[in-house]
Amino acid sequence: MNLNCEIHVVFGPQKRRGASLNQKEGQLVCYCRKVNRGRIIQAIADGASTLKQIQKATGAGTGKRCKELNPKGMCCIPDIAAILEAETGMKEKTRSCCPHCGVKE
Ligand code: FES
Repeated sequence: MNLNCEIHVVFGPQKRRGASLNQKEGQLVCYCRKVNRGRIIQAIADGASTLKQIQKATGAGTGKRCKELNPKGMCCIPDIAAILEAETGMKEKTRSCCPHCGVKE
């Protein structure tokens, strides 16, 4: 082993999550749990493929103060479902927003 040899590591194009977090990714989706779009997209990239998995990974959609905190006055579940569909093409049917805020789709 030659301890004097130089090591060159070449990185291909990659996203620097913190530095490249654009404004859209920084937008809050879940106001109760303070989860932004980028965090949800990252959870999907990490393998979450259902609403329940996204909820488990991020906490988004598990709050109970939606009417009070979300400017839309409703739960963020439909917004999470829309991101899931945009990122994966998979549409998950949501019967109702969530049991705690009582908003129906
Ligand atoms: S806004 Fe996401 S759970 Fe309330």
